Amino acid sequence: MLVLDRSPTVAPNVGDTIAVAVTPESLERAIDRLEDPIATAIEHARFDGKPGKTFVYTRAVEGGLVQVALVGVDGTRPSLEELRVLAHRAGSAACTWGSKRLVLDVSHLDVQAHGAAAGARLAEGAILSTYAYRTYLSEERARRPDLGHVTVCGPEIVAEGFEHGRIVADGIARARDLGNGPAELVTPDYLADTARDIAKAHADAGVEVEILDREACAALGMGLFLAVAKGSDVPPRFIHLSYRPSGAKRRVVLVGKGVTFDSGGYSLKPTDAMLDMKMDMCGAAAVIGAFEAIVRLGLPVEVHALVAATENMIGGHAYRLGDVYRGLDGTTVEINNTDAEGRLTLADAIAYGRRLSPDAIFDLATLTGACMVALGPRIAGLMTPDDGLADQIRGAADVAGERIWRLPLPKDLEDQLDSKIADCKNTGERWGGALTAGLFLARFAKDTPWAHLDIAGPAMASKAWGAHKEGATGFGVATVVELVAAMGRKPV
Ligand code: BES
Ligand code: MN
Ligand code: ZN
Repeated sequence: MLVLDRSPTVAPNVGDTIAVAVTPESLERAIDRLEDPIATAIEHARFDGKPGKTFVYTRAVEGGLVQVALVGVDGTRPSLEELRVLAHRAGSAACTWGSKRLVLDVSHLDVQAHGAAAGARLAEGAILSTYAYRTYLSEERARRPDLGHVTVCGPEIVAEGFEHGRIVADGIARARDLGNGPAELVTPDYLADTARDIAKAHADAGVEVEILDREACAALGMGLFLAVAKGSDVPPRFIHLSYRPSGAKRRVVLVGKGVTFDSGGYSLKPTDAMLDMKMDMCGAAAVIGAFEAIVRLGLPVEVHALVAATENMIGGHAYRLGDVYRGLDGTTVEINNTDAEGRLTLADAIAYGRRLSPDAIFDLATLTGACMVALGPRIAGLMTPDDGLADQIRGAADVAGERIWRLPLPKDLEDQLDSKIADCKNTGERWGGALTAGLFLARFAKDTPWAHLDIAGPAMASKAWGAHKEGATGFGVATVVELVAAMGRKPV
């Protein structure tokens, strides 16, 4: 486990990496103070201290060398997202050089205003810089970096966020491992086993788990979830994790899309589009990772995490275009695209969630390519008819250092889902596909306060960026934790 501490001064030992955040202006001043060969090297490398760039050099100290990493940041008042990225870059430089300890100097940055959250985001960035999906690597390649100790030089308040950040980082790493795991490994049963493990580890904190199999779901009437599951030989699982801390004054239901592989079904995806579809359960991964973090933090809110986990496959048992299925709440849906499976699984999970009479339902899902067309690959789309809930989630995302943007739920697009033979169809027209997916879900949330986060873009990274490695990012874990933390603080 990475040791995190704070020191008012930079006092490096031989072999340490010292990371210093620089801006173009502070770099200029630093160059004036540096010995000639280093100042010249910085100029030769055309390092200008701009955000996204890092310059490393080694310096002699008594008994050996230390590595210095100059990490460019955008001004002296970094956002919480920038702080996570800063620590990630610094940690990566330390790992590459083989340092056992990183000394991260943020003393000249204004982080005070962020309070303890600054320390949390720095801790996450540093811890996640050591992350890799190791399950299938040879022993040599799976070896963890030597980095075992991070010392932050900055105001006292940052240290107050370290433990929180560690727990969130563990939740993110859990979510990434689930997302990066191939569909052959991370099946609905594997997700259920993960939920069982979490419940067992935290039974004394009031955590319970219930797993429903195909028959139990059929007995309840989850016809939409089971329609998607029809074509798969791996059995579906409906997962219900619950955390009931004593004295909780609020109850929130989290729903995560858990399609462990999305082939598209008979509306089959071409190879390129299917390539990443082992990650179509990143909503479930985020909800499970966040749930575990919430429990470990002991947040005073009752939380239910729901995942309708299944593959979406083809075969003699698979659901067809034109079929009609009845959901848990009685709604009948005509299938006009079997690749719009996520919303069917979510519809039954949301209907199940409503029966728990929560104060709010929040779903996270890799739901539409259209959301990536609208917002690009790094920003999640938030949809909710509830302005108060939108503000709460936006506030939580700001503290979490995750980027989300609210999209509308235009009532006049609703008739795209009209069906001649059922209550509705499962898809509308091409344009605005993220919004009609949101409108479809809204039918099932009914009058329960509900919000939907389409994470199709930020859940997976096609190449490393920010504090992410290539692959699953764990996006959403931090926002959900901060949302539940804020709900726990708010007077009822
Ligand atoms: N899992 C996909 C959405 C997706 C696409 C996530 C790319 C991540 C990256 C979802 O099940 C899907 O196939 N959506 C369709 C909806 C359409 C049929 C209305 C899509 O986006 O094309
Ligand atoms: Mn699909
Ligand atoms: Zn899908």
